[in-house]
Amino acid sequence: MISLMYPQHIIFGKGVINQLGERVGSLGSKALLVTGRSAMRKSGILEKVINQLSSNQIDVELFDKVEHDPSLTTVAEGIDEARKKDVSVVIGLGGGSAMDSAKTIAVIAKEDGTLEDYHEGKLKIKRPGLPFVAVPTTAGTGAEITNNAVLTNREKKLKKSIRSPFMIAKVALVDPELTLSCPPSLTAHSGMDALTQAIESFISKGSNPITDTLALRAIELIFYNLPLAFEDGSNISTREKVALGSLLSAMAFSNSGLGAVHGLSHPLGAHYNIPHGLACAVLLPWVLEYNLPVCKEKMDIIAKKIGVKRGEDVPDIIRDLLNKLKIPLTFKEWGIKKEDIPVLVKKSRSGSMAKNPREATDEDLENILKKVI
Ligand SMILES: [Fe+2]
Repeated sequence: MISLMYPQHIIFGKGVINQLGERVGSLGSKALLVTGRSAMRKSGILEKVINQLSSNQIDVELFDKVEHDPSLTTVAEGIDEARKKDVSVVIGLGGGSAMDSAKTIAVIAKEDGTLEDYHEGKLKIKRPGLPFVAVPTTAGTGAEITNNAVLTNREKKLKKSIRSPFMIAKVALVDPELTLSCPPSLTAHSGMDALTQAIESFISKGSNPITDTLALRAIELIFYNLPLAFEDGSNISTREKVALGSLLSAMAFSNSGLGAVHGLSHPLGAHYNIPHGLACAVLLPWVLEYNLPVCKEKMDIIAKKIGVKRGEDVPDIIRDLLNKLKIPLTFKEWGIKKEDIPVLVKKSRSGSMAKNPREATDEDLENILKKVI
């Protein structure tokens, strides 16, 4: 059986941002616009979006407090805002953090209990929330497509997902022009997140022929175009290809699941504040070397898509890509302590880890981390 879940409407292409007012207007007349603290304002995208909405007679309440790796505290504040202002639709504008915060605010605004209860799995989301419209401005996380939000409890150093079919966007509006202002390092990190997601989807235990087709095309698009977008962010043609690759990657992994790279990247983010895309990028070649014995055939297929002969060659060609993107090959500069490894492994046992093609013991994961720190 193949079972797939997607937003009701995915709109992709240059200039589709101009449809935002009309799309939001069909869902409600008062919107909470959820975004980060400064990037959207600096790039001029925020002003453009607010004008778009206002000219379609939509009242806009701005919640611009989202930080990188959104905390339960910030998102709970957004939920209070949505309730107090009695908004009828929630828009997420920005990278994965803004998307994940917005979709959580939209759904929990209509639930009882505290956000922490849902984060810790004590309560389950029972009903549809406010309609959520996703407008990504980075090409990578895929959070505009997924049914989960990764949030961090800073006090408990716990980074994990809240998941529900009710968290899927009503509309995902993906405009590659919005990624033109994304700086090179963020382009590299989010693009490597997308590439990792496509590769992990393709070899995951949950893959199927449809997600495989999406993932393979995503791998090809991102592998060849990401270095070009990193070097020259103003080229809309390469930005469009990376954004399409990222969308296809999200459409694959959101239905297949991921693997050990994503399992390990979350505790590294929670304990050491390593940005998600960067953590994925550094871990990817090491985890692929570990997985290779159980997915040789699929790794050979990936190899052909990215211009090398055999699956065994894939980790090193990815290391070459990391060099081009100025991403380090290990976590040396983060000073990860050896004594933290057992707890990092313990906290890596997520849904992603369960889909890794090779059943990893604690010792296996500890060995991967020892190599990469
Ligand atoms: Fe990711």
